Amino acid sequence: MSIPTKEEVSALLGGITEPDLRRGLNELNLIRGIEIDGSTIAVTVAVTGPGPHLPKYFNEVIPSKLIGVFPDVTEVKVATTQLTEQERAAMVGSVKKDTPGLLGRSDTHTQVIAIGSGKGGVGKSTTTVNIAASLVKQGHSVGLLDADVWGFSIPRMLGIHEKPKVVEDMIIPPEMFGVKIVSIGLFTTEDNPVVWRGPMLHKALQQFLEDVHWDEPDYLLVDLPPGTGDVSISIAQFLPGASMVVVTTPQQVAEKVAQRAGFMAEKTGLSVAGVVENMSFFRGDDGKVYNIFGSGGGRNLATTLNVPLLGQIPIEPRLTQFADIGAPIVLQHPDCEAAEALDGAAKELANILPPKPRSAKRISLPLLGGH
Ligand SMILES: Nc1ncnc2c1ncn2[C@@H]1O[C@H](COP(=O)(O)OP(=O)(O)OP(=O)(O)O)[C@@H](O)[C@H]1O
Ligand SMILES: [Mg+2]
Repeated sequence: MSIPTKEEVSALLGGITEPDLRRGLNELNLIRGIEIDGSTIAVTVAVTGPGPHLPKYFNEVIPSKLIGVFPDVTEVKVATTQLTEQERAAMVGSVKKDTPGLLGRSDTHTQVIAIGSGKGGVGKSTTTVNIAASLVKQGHSVGLLDADVWGFSIPRMLGIHEKPKVVEDMIIPPEMFGVKIVSIGLFTTEDNPVVWRGPMLHKALQQFLEDVHWDEPDYLLVDLPPGTGDVSISIAQFLPGASMVVVTTPQQVAEKVAQRAGFMAEKTGLSVAGVVENMSFFRGDDGKVYNIFGSGGGRNLATTLNVPLLGQIPIEPRLTQFADIGAPIVLQHPDCEAAEALDGAAKELANILPPKPRSAKRISLPLLGGH
């Protein structure tokens, strides 16, 4: 008979990822019992919180790991049990110790890149979501913090409306297109604007870096609000060693923009890694290029700041449509010129700021469960 041993079952199921904390079941010590009776295997697994999504997930994934793999196993019964408060606190404590929040850390694995500009409406958020999705395409792990607390647009641009889950005091960011996302917009609604003032905003951003389980991604992109305000300064204070990408348009007002960007970098302590020129030109159906907003602004700014020009993104009407239906163009239309330019900018950025090596190896939790 081809029936596995308890150890074999444990090893197989232990590799299943817990969908909220994104760690293996054995690592989190969530397998609480394995009984083998002839061709039937009964598994008990602990869930980290209430609601039906975890039992449903385990009811699907656990049988799929055993049935068909062992021809003589014909039935898999899955039972779930809730973690006790103490167990949950201990688990969250271990996960936090393992990967502490990003707040104030210069030793983190994560490359933090803030996307800013001197003025509004130049395409910061569009650039941020597309570079995020593009970095995922390149195989990197990516988080996206929407620091535009008043004018948040990331949830809509990525079509995400799911509230972050909370386990103990740890906020689990929802994931879209492989990007972990946190935005004030996930805690409120677009018709219920944020009226918080400076100190509360500062506190909210602090919490987003301290209590959110970012899990030290390769990159954390931060979509800054327009201008050089308090939010940018808070971000720079919270994230020592962060870099900045400046988004600009091709208008020949580079000097002014450069002044503002330079001023912002100086004021915030963020070092500028590069410039993205957006809305650079429009290419008609006949292939002819129209410099609708002028030309040369990005190049001039890059030269003045002495940083590379990461890309020139053409005007692409579909970018606006895609932003409204919640899908980055680099995924929806990877072959169009705008997507190629955005992919190119992301590659260039990853060349300049490659992922940092991981310093500490993740240590598995000791197995405490009885099976
Ligand atoms: N290359 C482009 N082609 C066409 N439309 C674009 C392009 N880039 C951005 N847009 C559109 O321009 C508008 C402004 O873009 P976006 O919201 O990204 O700018 P922003 O700099 O983040 O603005 P804010 O300062 O308000 O945060 C959006 O409607 C977006 O879809
Ligand atoms: Mg924006």
